[in-house]
Amino acid sequence: MISAEKIPNNVDLSSNKRLQRALEHWQPKYIQWWRDMGPQGFQDYHQVYVRTAISVDPEGWAHFEYVKLPEYRWGIFLADPTPDRRIGFGDFFGQPVWQEVPGEFRNQLRRLIVTQGDTEPASVEQQRWLGHRCPSLYDLRNLFQVNVEEGRHLWAMVYLLHSYFGRDGRDEAEELLERQSGNRDKPRILEAFNEPIDNWLDFFMFTMFTDRDGKSQLMSLSESSLDPLSRTTRFMLTEEAHHMFVGETGVARILERTCQLMKEAGFSGDVRKIGGIDIPTIQKHLNQWFSLSLDLHGGEVSSNAASYFANGLKGRAKEDGYDDHVVKNAYYQMEFFEQGRPVTKEVLLRNAMNEVLRDWYVGDCAAGVVRWNRILEAHGMSDRLKLPDRKFNRNIGMYSGFRFDPDGVPLSQEDWERRKYEWLPSAGDSEYLLSIMAEPIYEPGKFANYIAPPRRGINQQPIGFEYVRTEQ
Ligand SMILES: [Fe+2]
Ligand SMILES: [Fe+2]
Repeated sequence: MISAEKIPNNVDLSSNKRLQRALEHWQPKYIQWWRDMGPQGFQDYHQVYVRTAISVDPEGWAHFEYVKLPEYRWGIFLADPTPDRRIGFGDFFGQPVWQEVPGEFRNQLRRLIVTQGDTEPASVEQQRWLGHRCPSLYDLRNLFQVNVEEGRHLWAMVYLLHSYFGRDGRDEAEELLERQSGNRDKPRILEAFNEPIDNWLDFFMFTMFTDRDGKSQLMSLSESSLDPLSRTTRFMLTEEAHHMFVGETGVARILERTCQLMKEAGFSGDVRKIGGIDIPTIQKHLNQWFSLSLDLHGGEVSSNAASYFANGLKGRAKEDGYDDHVVKNAYYQMEFFEQGRPVTKEVLLRNAMNEVLRDWYVGDCAAGVVRWNRILEAHGMSDRLKLPDRKFNRNIGMYSGFRFDPDGVPLSQEDWERRKYEWLPSAGDSEYLLSIMAEPIYEPGKFANYIAPPRRGINQQPIGFEYVRTEQ
């Protein structure tokens, strides 16, 4: 039965019969999906110390408790409405925002919501085997926290589909549970969400870089003229911050431990010989997930992006910070690649909106890499991590037909084939990572050899707290 007790919400679910009926139909399918495609082996006999969103009050929006994963209370929350909110950009700038979907933008909005919604269950599917290789109970709990919240983000998008898109919306909601990450016949919509994540270095890089793409997309959707979409995504950003925290601190703790091991090995030795993760391997995984996540922002010149902006559906991150919100006759200086050389040309700014968002994203990633490098510096290491050039390893957009090294130097296809594993994880790298992660660590307070403990625990609990309990 659908009830406010089972589904925490601030959308007045108890008096919305239509939504109740739609959810009554969808929710059992969701639970079945969660069991089949969610964390494998941790459904029935484990209690996980997770936070659950119970309101949108910034002071107390979540509470922590032990929960069996399939019993997590996935809720529906919209950030509080902004009184007299006005459209912030595009051709309808200054008009009141929409509480219903305008017929002429119905297809575009549905597509935006479905594309966002598809990524949420996809990441849960990608990560479903990681629990068996976890470096600690603390990390295991963080993995499941990210997973249940991605599940809630799916709920958030399904709420919009059920509430505003009628029959089509209900069909789309079902299909969100039918596509599967990496499935040949019914893959997830976007490429990065079909890549396997079978080791924890991939997981941390994914939450650092791909969840951060989630952040850029949610920031641009939170500017939307469709007010329920804006309010839903605004609240999702609160949870997203923790996902990026998991990624950034996960890699930081690996770096910390790698530095310690390098010192123990007398700097000259191979850190792999003592079970650590060497910096070149870390850099390769960074290259992989950063470039895949750049692709998620779409083509550099895009008439779709222009139309989303003109119609007020999807804005720029922090639209408030710009002076001109209509940008009808504004231009963007874009680098093209012609006859083997970069050439700068002017493009209508509206057509360059994907690139504008990608610029914001690259800056946000770069700040994280600076924080990682401080760890290397503090240990007196001369190595540094860096973001590859944005032309490197692209499969979407104008660079996709060409090959570049991480510094953006053009390469022949032949050179690329010969050298790509200098820059991207090889089968040997994956094998090595799996070998040091083969034994999961389930003892409270203990950490795998390749990763340092965190500075502090979750919700002021000690680091040695039993974040995941096994029931007998
Ligand atoms: Fe998400
Ligand atoms: Fe996320």
